[in-house]
Amino acid sequence: MPLTLDDVRELDRQDPLASFKSRFALPQRVIYLDGNSLGAQPAAASEAVEALMAQWRDALIQGWNQGWFDAPERLGKRLAPLLGAEPGEVLVTDTITHNLFKLLGYITEGQGRARPVILSEGGNFPTDGYIAQGFSRFGGFEHRVLPEGEEVSEHLDPQVAVVVLSHVHYRTGRLRDMAAITRQVHAGGAEVIWDLAHSAGALPVDLATCGVRYAVGCTYKYLNGGPGAPAFLYVRRDCQDRGWQPLSGWLGHASPFAFEADYAPASGISRFRTGTHSPLAYAALEASLALWEEVDLAQLRSKSQRLIALFRESLAICLDEHGITDITPSEAERGSQVGLVAPDHGSSTAPDHGYAIVQALIERGVIGDYREPGLMRFGFAPLYLSHEDVWQAAQHLREVLAGGEYLAPRFQRRGTVT
Ligand SMILES: Cc1ncc(COP(=O)(O)O)c(C=O)c1O
Repeated sequence: MPLTLDDVRELDRQDPLASFKSRFALPQRVIYLDGNSLGAQPAAASEAVEALMAQWRDALIQGWNQGWFDAPERLGKRLAPLLGAEPGEVLVTDTITHNLFKLLGYITEGQGRARPVILSEGGNFPTDGYIAQGFSRFGGFEHRVLPEGEEVSEHLDPQVAVVVLSHVHYRTGRLRDMAAITRQVHAGGAEVIWDLAHSAGALPVDLATCGVRYAVGCTYKYLNGGPGAPAFLYVRRDCQDRGWQPLSGWLGHASPFAFEADYAPASGISRFRTGTHSPLAYAALEASLALWEEVDLAQLRSKSQRLIALFRESLAICLDEHGITDITPSEAERGSQVGLVAPDHGSSTAPDHGYAIVQALIERGVIGDYREPGLMRFGFAPLYLSHEDVWQAAQHLREVLAGGEYLAPRFQRRGTVT
């Protein structure tokens, strides 16, 4: 029996996370299913940015001694519990792209080329593969691709130095077994860097228990840090003092204000700093991390699963009728997103209707996104989505499909960002 509006309102009344929704500044009449791309704005973020602006105005350069300078370490400490990390093991800085490059260089420094291969995952978010390629090219490594869908263990050999993997895959939403794979890679004498872009803030992550030594991730998706918010990197404490990282900038120096001629890395996680960061960006993120300190991650995970199940169950028959494939993995093997693939119509300009369906939904105020080729993605951020939102979103999708609304030419026009 499909759930009624009354049923889902009752679920909302019983939801222990329900009160968080009012702590986000969401536009009226929008159902936001794109928190896996850019998270919604915590209400406290704009006040925090305004306060930073006032501090810049009044304190001028002294602001750097009033919390700006140590923001990468301070926010890393606040983020650590969400990742199963200890204070001093996480640094909030730069982008995933930069952080991957830094870690690849750091891990392989001084190893010679006894292990000449960097292995990255085919079909992963492109920047991970591009950085593995760029690093290999300039560092004299061979870049190998783990074919999509194949087991990591089948591609580990004594040549492999580092493997780059996503914890939750950005397209399929598949969650990898982090503990088992980390064990396999370490047993093969290699290292693994985990990309947590789609798992930090989407589900409980336990880096310590999984034996992880290196990870990267972003804060602008499920962590709601704002557009272009700084990323993070994790280096387990016992792996922190092995050498240099390749972007040996002045703020990663042991004494940046000594202005010495030669580089000497800072001790601990601070050596992964590069150049000057933006305190404005950290202010918005810090407001969000303060809110995250109140969140019970087990409750987050169980609500994410309930919302996804509700969405899929409300759509199942209708998707079949329209030939749409639901590629969402089973409960234990997924992150916090749903993936739907529209059938291919064989036209080179509009091979499937996925893009147009997402645009038609956006016009109705239901925001998801589209990723080539053919994938409609819907992210479920439990802090600001109610069961009623999800029920309504499914209803809109049923109507868009039933009436062929998405066939209107205006839904084919593409912006730069899809
Ligand atoms: C899995 C994954 N890695 C990396 C990135 C991009 O990272 P950045 O732009 O911070 O370098 C994304 C962006 O969506 C992503 O989904």
